[in-house]
Amino acid sequence: MEHGNRTALVTGGARGLGTEICRQLAHRGLRVLVAARKREAAEEVCRGIGPAAVPLALDVTSAASVAEAVREALGRFGTIDVLVNNAGLSVDASRTALELDEDTLRTTLDTNLVGAWRLAEAVVPGMARGGYGRVVNVTSSYGSLALMDSGRRPAYRISKTALNALTRMLAAELAGTGVLVNAADPGWTRSGMGGSAAPRGPEEGADTPVWLATLPEGDGTTGGLFAERKPLPW
Ligand SMILES: NC(=O)c1ccc[n+]([C@@H]2O[C@H](COP(=O)([O-])OP(=O)(O)OC[C@H]3O[C@@H](n4cnc5c(N)ncnc54)[C@H](OP(=O)(O)O)[C@@H]3O)[C@@H](O)[C@H]2O)c1
Repeated sequence: MEHGNRTALVTGGARGLGTEICRQLAHRGLRVLVAARKREAAEEVCRGIGPAAVPLALDVTSAASVAEAVREALGRFGTIDVLVNNAGLSVDASRTALELDEDTLRTTLDTNLVGAWRLAEAVVPGMARGGYGRVVNVTSSYGSLALMDSGRRPAYRISKTALNALTRMLAAELAGTGVLVNAADPGWTRSGMGGSAAPRGPEEGADTPVWLATLPEGDGTTGGLFAERKPLPW
């Protein structure tokens, strides 16, 4: 089986990079679960993509919502072969670490780190049992310790640094199972989060996540951090 009959779940699929990742995965022949907090928003995206896209209601900050969405998906399709942890929140662009309030820190970590972790715990054991899986954590160069040259966006940065660490841990834990876990930086991309001045369009931004989500059978790429399909410093 190449990509036909594979099922992918993309969080935050109803807008921005998530929608484009869904579109590109469907174009490559995967069934795509377009997961969004509002099912109607996911339904609209699915109508635009076509029959390969299926809407799913999913709030990554709710353990109950994650459990229900994964139960619904597995009940309908049997497996989730590809997980793209794309949902993300960035609301502290103008603040520094010493100015940050605790609520923003907690909400950002809950969405960007714990949300991805919840999905991994719910989905990845099934992938490992089946001997195949691709997990892509959509991260940012803001999370790279090697590039940490500003105190701005402290909650967002540290959430992505921690997501990168989760990527390494999961990859190590899953070595030899057929489940590959990687982090993808889409680059500064036009979207709700990236704004309209960003140099990259969603097609370019989605390229590296989609590449990692569709690594072919036998490919050993795991535990890496990539931008434009090339390694990015941790
Ligand atoms: N754009 C960039 O320049 C850039 C650069 C580097 C990394 N990234 C990363 O790329 C990913 C996608 O960002 P984007 O640019 O497409 O941003 P966006 O347009 O702001 O979209 C964010 C997405 O995350 C979803 N989301 C937020 N909280 C959620 C929750 N609790 N449960 C489920 N979904 C939730 C949103 O869903 P709703 O529609 O329900 O709000 C939306 O679909 C993020 O992880 C971001 O950190 C973006």
